[in-house]
Amino acid sequence: MNHFLDIHKTDKDALRAIIDSAADIKNARAGKAKAALDAELPLKDRMVALIFEKPSTRTRTSFDVGVRQMGGQTMVLSGADMQLGHGETIADTARVMSRYVDMIMIRTFDEAVLEELAEYASVPVINGLTDRTHPCQIMADILTYEEHRGPIKGKKVVWCGDGNNVCASFLHAAGQFGFDLTFTGPVQLDPEMEFVGLARSQGSTINIERDPFKAVEGADLIVADTWVSMHDAQSAKERRHNMLRPYQVNADLMAAAGKDALFMHCLPAHREEEVTSEVMDGPQSVIWDEAENRLHAQKAVMKYCLEG
Ligand code: CP
Ligand code: NVA
Repeated sequence: MNHFLDIHKTDKDALRAIIDSAADIKNARAGKAKAALDAELPLKDRMVALIFEKPSTRTRTSFDVGVRQMGGQTMVLSGADMQLGHGETIADTARVMSRYVDMIMIRTFDEAVLEELAEYASVPVINGLTDRTHPCQIMADILTYEEHRGPIKGKKVVWCGDGNNVCASFLHAAGQFGFDLTFTGPVQLDPEMEFVGLARSQGSTINIERDPFKAVEGADLIVADTWVSMHDAQSAKERRHNMLRPYQVNADLMAAAGKDALFMHCLPAHREEEVTSEVMDGPQSVIWDEAENRLHAQKAVMKYCLEG
């Protein structure tokens, strides 16, 4: 049994195998190749619990659809409605849930909840986002980049804005998949230096550049995310917007990057804030493929978890 807790905690070869398997699963679904793969129904007669302590459109829907396409069933649970929200320990919840279901996906606040759940569950646990990381998103992003441009190894990714949970998983992926990453954003919102150091120790070039126009020079991929994440205080919204406005991804910034650079955003996006509609709906944007690929990447993640 394998958990899927974070990209830096997953074996490098396993990560590559998950991406390749995701591409095969996607092709099989489209009737293109290896059709037997999708007919395997690896989740037949299995129940997967999807626990959400925060809102979700893509993660909820793509996991639910993915489990069903693999022959399994889902139970979508709101953390607040469970005893989890009323004092039962995470360890006890993990022990009990493991007696009912075959896999648990959780979206939560503190990553300690995810870690405790994984420690005490006897079934695989998948990270569906915490305040600190969002690994399933980045597996979909790697799949998307490689579909459009081939291997991501050696490429330059530029993260624009807040050094948040999605940025953290991008840094983990930089180290594991061997690409470089430039962060451009205000100093107050730098990514965690521990993660920057980890990627550097794995051989990736990680730069921090305050000037967004300098940062995007030679970029292969530009990535943006919301300026106020679900775990951020709404009272900080105006201050964050003021700090982050210079880092908006707009047509001028994309022009500085060059016409071959792709644009990604995990969504939900706030149009005309972190990114303009012109870029989101423009020719360099691959955001809808990126959203679709959550489904295929997560099916491969679930297969990996079951195979152990
Ligand atoms: N990108 C992403 O995780 O979207 P949701 O919050 O809608 O699940
Ligand atoms: N950084 C965002 C990602 C949403 C998918 C958040 O945590 O709200």
